[in-house]
Amino acid sequence: MTLKDSILACLAEKPGQAVSGQDMAEKFGISRNAVWKSIVQLRQEGYEIRSATNRGYALADSGRLCEALIRAYMGGAAPVYGFDSIDSTNTEAKRRILAGESGFLVLAERQTAGRGRRGRSFFSPAGSGLYMSAALSVDIPLEQAVNVTSYAAVCVRRAIKEITGLECGIKWVNDLYLDGKKVCGILTEAVTDFESGSVAGVVVGIGVNLTESAVPEELRSIVGFLGCEGVKNRLAAAIAQQLFRFDGEDRSYMADYRAYSAVLGREVSYTVSGEKRRGVAADIDDAGGLVVETAAGRDILRSGEISLESIEGLK
Ligand code: BTN
Repeated sequence: MTLKDSILACLAEKPGQAVSGQDMAEKFGISRNAVWKSIVQLRQEGYEIRSATNRGYALADSGRLCEALIRAYMGGAAPVYGFDSIDSTNTEAKRRILAGESGFLVLAERQTAGRGRRGRSFFSPAGSGLYMSAALSVDIPLEQAVNVTSYAAVCVRRAIKEITGLECGIKWVNDLYLDGKKVCGILTEAVTDFESGSVAGVVVGIGVNLTESAVPEELRSIVGFLGCEGVKNRLAAAIAQQLFRFDGEDRSYMADYRAYSAVLGREVSYTVSGEKRRGVAADIDDAGGLVVETAAGRDILRSGEISLESIEGLK
């Protein structure tokens, strides 16, 4: 770690509180002038560091992605890798898992090749969203690892509520909606080890639309925003803290998954073996399957996508 990074980490331990320049100089065995030079460099990089006479320096959380702040908010629970720009945080997490790492977080201010489910791209402009991937070390069978999909939706919903007070609905399988528009998408991927045929890790990729940005025409009616500034680091940490608790066994979160479902009781349409069907979403079973009552009987959907026949009244 460079001196500048050590000073940033030191300030991030107490966001908003002044840390004395003298204390940092003594801690790192350097002069107060050297501390000052690091502060100047950090400010040039965009960190908002206030100085108060006789009290020292305080790092403000301006909302700009900050590894040190996220680490501090998480209580140092896992390594955090932040990038100004990257192809995709999920792809980077997979690269790191294949290189032998596990249990870490990757975040970026923008993605140049953000990926969504079913091979779609995920619009990821700079500044307006939280783009993060958590690599979970899983010592559990694949049948349990798949539960992370519904768990992640509950974690993000809870974190948004905790940090912003907003109440999102969960659209099966794991999209989050606010006022009828999608504000969060989640892409979970397993990394398999070809040598052993086992699961080397699970990546949970999360994209949350925080502040309004110029959305491409074709997405305008679908994409929504939380409308919250300055929450990126706290939100990332709150989500990650919960995600890293995933053990594949505890299914108590399913109560929230059902309680905050944006689809139960609503008319939905979907495709089974190329055939378009519709019915009413009646229940979500313990394995996360969506139970749909149709005119012909009932379908239990294990994966795939549903469309809501009407978005009226949708959370
Ligand atoms: C979807 O709605 O289809 C899922 C979108 C998932 C987007 C996130 S953003 C962070 C992570 N990196 C990616 O490339 N995708 C996920």
